[in-house]
Amino acid sequence: MRTLADLGDVDGLRVLVRVDFNVPLTDDGAIADDTRIRGALDTLQALLARGASLILVSHLGRPKERDPRLSLQPVARALGELLGRPVKMAPAVVGDEVSALAAGLERGEVLMLENVRYEPGETRNDPQLAAALAALADVYVDDAFGAAHRAHASTEGVARLMPRRAAGLLLEREVVTLTTLTDSPRRPLVAILGGAKVSDKIRVIERFLVVADAILIGGAMVFPFFRAQGHAVGDSLCAQEDVGHARRLLELAGSASGKLMLPTDLVVAERFSAQATPELIDGVDVPAGRMGLDIGPRTVAHYAGLVASAGTVFWNGPMGAFELEPFAAGTRAVAAALAEASAVTVVGGGDSAAAVQQFGYADRMTHVSTGGGAALELIEGRALPGVEVLDG
Ligand code: 3PG
Repeated sequence: MRTLADLGDVDGLRVLVRVDFNVPLTDDGAIADDTRIRGALDTLQALLARGASLILVSHLGRPKERDPRLSLQPVARALGELLGRPVKMAPAVVGDEVSALAAGLERGEVLMLENVRYEPGETRNDPQLAAALAALADVYVDDAFGAAHRAHASTEGVARLMPRRAAGLLLEREVVTLTTLTDSPRRPLVAILGGAKVSDKIRVIERFLVVADAILIGGAMVFPFFRAQGHAVGDSLCAQEDVGHARRLLELAGSASGKLMLPTDLVVAERFSAQATPELIDGVDVPAGRMGLDIGPRTVAHYAGLVASAGTVFWNGPMGAFELEPFAAGTRAVAAALAEASAVTVVGGGDSAAAVQQFGYADRMTHVSTGGGAALELIEGRALPGVEVLDG
């Protein structure tokens, strides 16, 4: 993969930087978490220090057309504060006005393009949009790890058209960290996987059955496993199609020397609500009229012990409904165990990244990935189009 170090002299050049500023927004449109903006700062500062001017391109949400609620204007403002220099906001993604603004950039100036998904050609990887983006700059840098699994005009199409292209520092760190995790981890390698659906994690579990020493399962995705084992799941979240996936994974795991571990106790309640009363059950048979919403303390102690003796821990997906305080204990305890571990600790993006942030442990992890889907696809062993194009 070509990196910033391979890029040569960029003094006085315009660099188009694909960033992933797809940040979560509050109901009134404010930035709820600026981790992804901070994540790109090293790359942006390094290029500015080398005398470049920057044209930044990102998506935000999934608009089908121009949608003012998903403008990157607030993101440009926040970035300006973090960089300590003004960030100009373009009125659109491409077009005459944008070209004029890009052409007029002086050394050290930064221009943010509008949400690239305002252009329908973005997700189609439209060659015309890619060409219009390429025409704005001399050099292309991709630091959008979170979007590297998308073959879109601003990730793959434009890169192909720009001979001077490289990975930014964040994308490089993500790829190196996540490939080291599966290819040459410090052992034992413990993978903790949670979240709602088995179907989202099948390939990741399959891969970890090969490369990890233990896989600890939590979150609502335990219930298809329990149903496949013949346990009662009560009103717990449990899609029928996931039961089949879980059964197959249990069979696979059977031949992988009992690596796959499931909870041995649960916290249940009558309903999914912060007002519901949590009840601890010894065992995993969920009574009728109850739903499982967290792992129990015996499971926490077991999982925390495995984390404490691990060489590397990868965690993706919460252990329970951590957004509801009565059911946050399992996820909080796993986050704390990672924070205290001497292992290399890598947190996949999405909800588990939000959880370590919310519980105040983010700084104590070796690496918190800025990519959700991209991180999982990399672990599955799939080639990411946005990364592959930087190899050639
Ligand atoms: C993400 O948030 O996972 C990335 O920004 C990719 O977004 P997308 O799933 O809308 O392509």
